[in-house]
Amino acid sequence: MEQTAVITGLGACLPPLVVGNEDLARSGLDTSDEWIVARTGIERRRRVTPGTATSDLGVAAARAALASAAVSEVDLVLLATTTPDRLCPASAPRVATRLGLAGVPAFDLAAVCSGFVYGLVVARALIRAEAYARVLLIGADTYSSIVDPLDRNTAVIFGDGAGAVVLERGPMDAAGAILDADLGSDGGGHDLITLVEGGSRYPARLGGTARQHRYLHMKGTDVFRYAVRQMTASTQAVLARAGWRADSVEAFVGHQANQRILNAVADRVGIAPQSRIGNLREVGNTAAASIPLAMAEAPGVRPGGRTVLTAFGGGVTWGSVGLTWPAAMPVHSEPAPPPDPQDERLP
Ligand code: ACO
Repeated sequence: MEQTAVITGLGACLPPLVVGNEDLARSGLDTSDEWIVARTGIERRRRVTPGTATSDLGVAAARAALASAAVSEVDLVLLATTTPDRLCPASAPRVATRLGLAGVPAFDLAAVCSGFVYGLVVARALIRAEAYARVLLIGADTYSSIVDPLDRNTAVIFGDGAGAVVLERGPMDAAGAILDADLGSDGGGHDLITLVEGGSRYPARLGGTARQHRYLHMKGTDVFRYAVRQMTASTQAVLARAGWRADSVEAFVGHQANQRILNAVADRVGIAPQSRIGNLREVGNTAAASIPLAMAEAPGVRPGGRTVLTAFGGGVTWGSVGLTWPAAMPVHSEPAPPPDPQDERLP
């Protein structure tokens, strides 16, 4: 039988600090619990405390995924993130070494909120090509490090977290098998979700840019419309490739961005209400971590059940994957403490 990548382990890590909508309103942000719940579906989100970085969440989620798969070694580590610990170097090599995997190839993958879905497609291609037999894919983000606490357009939406999967070579009929995929991007939308200062166009050392350029900036209404249109089209493309009817999908996991976006996509595609998986209300938008975190918290999906994942993110990027629900039991973990206190200070 044709071989593919099969999810054999699933791990998750959420930082313990819970920030509720009322906390945001009390902190001086001009918003309210009623507005946030009605417009986004989010009630609370998790945030790191000072000293915890993306790699600390990623290491914890990765350890949990390795425990879930009952393995300790992999051939490749991929870290999907847009909030690496440092702009340079990538965070994946450090994560791999902290997992006891020094020597293994490791790189970051930047596709913003589509990063985890992009990572699944990259891992599947490398496994099918027999370049690597077992891949650890982590989606980890710490948007609290780039969100302006005074920008109500973004501060209410984003949370921190990490999710991870182990992918191994296996048959197409295994529970957790990646079957079909659709990826896309449109750089014409590059300024819809952006952090301007600190890149090579506007180096941080020059300083002096407006406040909105030092933080993540999002054109929310444009993102909303684009996300609904593209996640719908991408989901439909994967369903067509798989030859699945929408009402046969047992688990539909959309990028947890906004409940109104998720409802609009699922309604347009025709996904049954009981098949819509999500934890947005509890964790907000955790960017590259959102899909594996939602999978790890999904209640009682049948292993082998038809599953579609779909995402949309900055770039803009989008992607969907058709798979069967994995048999692996998810493992949850606390953030890993940084290995060296010096890491928390400037060198
Ligand atoms: N609290 C209270 N009022 C608010 C808030 C807030 N947090 N935010 C906006 N408002 C106000 C606006 O000022 C506006 O007031 P006005 O009518 O007096 O001008 C009104 O509410 C409506 O504002 P809109 O921006 O039109 O509100 P909308 O319904 O579009 O919701 C939101 C805003 C939640 C940001 C929405 O556009 C959205 O979710 N967009 C998609 C975001 C998304 O998915 N981002 C993640 C993409 S993934 C990635 O790659 C990072």
